[in-house]
Amino acid sequence: MKEKKVAESISIMTELIMPNDTNPLGNLMGGNLLRWMDIIAGVCAGKHCEAHVVTASVDHVSFTGPIHLGDVITVQASITRAFNTSVEVYVEVLASNIKGHNTRRSNHAYFTFVALEDDSKRPKKVPKLVPLTRDEQELYESAIRRRELRLVLSGRMKPAEATEIRTLFENLD
Ligand SMILES: CC(C)(COP(=O)(O)OP(=O)(O)OC[C@H]1O[C@@H](n2cnc3c(N)ncnc32)[C@H](O)[C@@H]1OP(=O)(O)O)[C@@H](O)C(=O)NCCC(=O)NCCS
Repeated sequence: MKEKKVAESISIMTELIMPNDTNPLGNLMGGNLLRWMDIIAGVCAGKHCEAHVVTASVDHVSFTGPIHLGDVITVQASITRAFNTSVEVYVEVLASNIKGHNTRRSNHAYFTFVALEDDSKRPKKVPKLVPLTRDEQELYESAIRRRELRLVLSGRMKPAEATEIRTLFENLD
């Protein structure tokens, strides 16, 4: 299976915040933003894996400031690392006003997607990722720790099996 570069699957979505997207205070509803993040992350994962993918997990997401009616958001997704049948996707949201001013980083999150075989719908192997830039290499290296943490928190890995972050769970009793 051919290795792939990060740039081959980077995916970007731009949305103008309309009345239907907002809460009664006139700000973007968090759930709508999460939906767009999930969609663009899935597009990115699908491109890398060349397969149908499903969301297996979303790591901690916090909303640092309101996004207002009439603002423009850009949601960008890139693969940080490919594992066996899953990939981690980094999603970053930038918001600005319609004039392109007051740009701020609204939030970010790490999603995990699993690639599925077309027929059996069982997990299938994914292409390896080749990180090229320094930023890509840093995200690639740290992905192993985030993976262990989410697998421990979801009960899929025992803390003692986590090679990178085991010490976090020592002396918690
Ligand atoms: C994701 C799913 C396909 C995994 O199926 P499974 O039978 O547990 O498969 P496996 O045990 O072989 O795990 C497959 C991969 O999923 C990863 N995975 C499973 N659960 C995970 C979780 N909670 N967080 C992160 N990764 C997870 C495993 O680490 C493994 O990755 P790897 O092969 O790269 O090491 C299955 O749980 C599923 O279909 N979930 C629902 C997905 C969905 O519908 N999402 C939308 C929700 S509305």
